[in-house]
Amino acid sequence: MIEFVNFKDLGNEKASLIALEGIKDIPFNFKRIYFIQSIDTESSRGFHAHKELTQVAICLSGSFKMVFDDGTVNKSFIMDSPQKGVIIPPMIWHEMHEFSSDCIILVLASNLYDEEDYIRNYELFLKEKN
Ligand code: TYD
Repeated sequence: MIEFVNFKDLGNEKASLIALEGIKDIPFNFKRIYFIQSIDTESSRGFHAHKELTQVAICLSGSFKMVFDDGTVNKSFIMDSPQKGVIIPPMIWHEMHEFSSDCIILVLASNLYDEEDYIRNYELFLKEKN
């Protein structure tokens, strides 16, 4: 259920540099990127699944806890490295918790924003899964 992609750091002792190319580094040609920052450390985000969208989330700074739920199994893991992306496939309920105050998250998405692609109700998600 959880698949990571690892990115090579092309930098040197003066700076870290990571380049992400569609297909090569990210397993699809992304059409949209967004980033989340200045996150209230008391807050949680996500609480939805996508019908068709695939995304890769990367923690550029700080850390947070990601929770994946495929309708049967619930798994959580810490994201804390800009060299590691997690693939958020379609039909995985996901939640983000425990943001550090310096947390910055970059997300690469396979398609443009479409509210119709969201399942925001957990009961409905379970129904669609089974
Ligand atoms: P999002 O964080 O996905 O909403 P929520 O926290 O309610 O699940 O998005 C917040 C707002 O930004 C929402 O109005 C939808 C909008 N939005 C876009 O317009 N484009 C995007 O790519 C994303 C991710 C969100």
